[in-house]
Amino acid sequence: MASVSTPLTFDVKSIRKDFPILNRKVNEKPLVYFDNAATSQTPQQVIDVIVEYYSNYNANIHRGVHALSQEATDAYEQARIKLQKHFNIPNAYQTLFTSGTTHGINIVASGYAEILKEGDEVVVSALEHHSNIVPWQMLCEKTGAVLKVIPMTDNGTLDMDAFEQLLSDKTKLVFVNHVSNALGTVNPIEFIIEKTHAVGGAVLVDGAQAAPHINADVQALDVDFYVVSAHKMCGPTGVGMLYGKEKWLEQLPPYQGGGEMIDQVTFEKTTYAGLPHKFEAGTPNICGGIAFGAALDYMNAIGFENIAAYEHELLEYATEKLKAIDGLRIYGESKEKTAVISFNIEGIHPYDIGTILDKLGVAVRTGHHCAQPIMDFYKIPGTVRASFAFYNTKEEIDVLVAGVERAKNMLS
Ligand code: ALA
Repeated sequence: MASVSTPLTFDVKSIRKDFPILNRKVNEKPLVYFDNAATSQTPQQVIDVIVEYYSNYNANIHRGVHALSQEATDAYEQARIKLQKHFNIPNAYQTLFTSGTTHGINIVASGYAEILKEGDEVVVSALEHHSNIVPWQMLCEKTGAVLKVIPMTDNGTLDMDAFEQLLSDKTKLVFVNHVSNALGTVNPIEFIIEKTHAVGGAVLVDGAQAAPHINADVQALDVDFYVVSAHKMCGPTGVGMLYGKEKWLEQLPPYQGGGEMIDQVTFEKTTYAGLPHKFEAGTPNICGGIAFGAALDYMNAIGFENIAAYEHELLEYATEKLKAIDGLRIYGESKEKTAVISFNIEGIHPYDIGTILDKLGVAVRTGHHCAQPIMDFYKIPGTVRASFAFYNTKEEIDVLVAGVERAKNMLS
């Protein structure tokens, strides 16, 4: 992604010591973990926060006068403020905890079911994860709105001329990921937001794959909604964040009814709590939220620019080495890319390559990566995807490349 060079202070050897899982063996080989786009690994600093929560102050929040409940409430609300600051969100109450990116998208999609009318248009991109396609299809079925698709090009980027042709005063919402999970393409979201606003539409950006690499500023982007998951960025699974502009969050109805999202309840009528509680029914993932804040602290201490620069070095190194393998094709060659390489070897099923790599201790994802339309575009069943993080090394990439060569020799 970034073109700045890795600073001398970036010490991957010492960073790796923070991740206990990187010491383990798989199939009697040292683990080489290249499935970071699915789930990143967790540093000891975040594991300690989780252990501390359950060892010392596990309690329900916003409900008790007792000390443990207050400590848990304070820690959870402090974590919300960490998220608010990190993404430069104007107010803490616009920073909603969710169970992850998919939950955040569904909160918005289900709310828009009451706002959209027949004939309204919503636009998604061809590079989306299923979680940013299916909820909008369901929304269109309910409302009679029409789904339009921004097409992609052979190098894995979006066709911005075609996008502009799709826009009109009927366009109410545009959904696009900041970074494609399957190809690593960084999408031109600034342009998409500007053009959509010019016709009066709103934009939801799925930041799940960008947030581990790019420090998004929601106010500078002027984005309407931004959603992320903690487990892609050194935090635990089951927790994420939805940012929304205040005018939209006020307008959207609650997603779920339950405790904590109400103002007054009688059998005749219930009134809802204000933001953020209106969207946070039930007991949340308290420990997860606190650990998400700790994960952001951890990554910010290393620095997102440092992370992006180092990962870019890994991307360039791996791209060159893999491309040298005869018959190997990389899918997605945008100039703006995060450290994700999706590839196939002619005549070999990606699953078979993944299985052999696993025997060598190398974890990659194989298949359609929950992005079937991209695979259909390339007319392939899937790819092998290696996705790198700031704790990976060039030596590990050498192990991957040797493994791919071995798989090719065994299978062709
Ligand atoms: N969305 C995750 C991935 O790309 C699970 O692997």
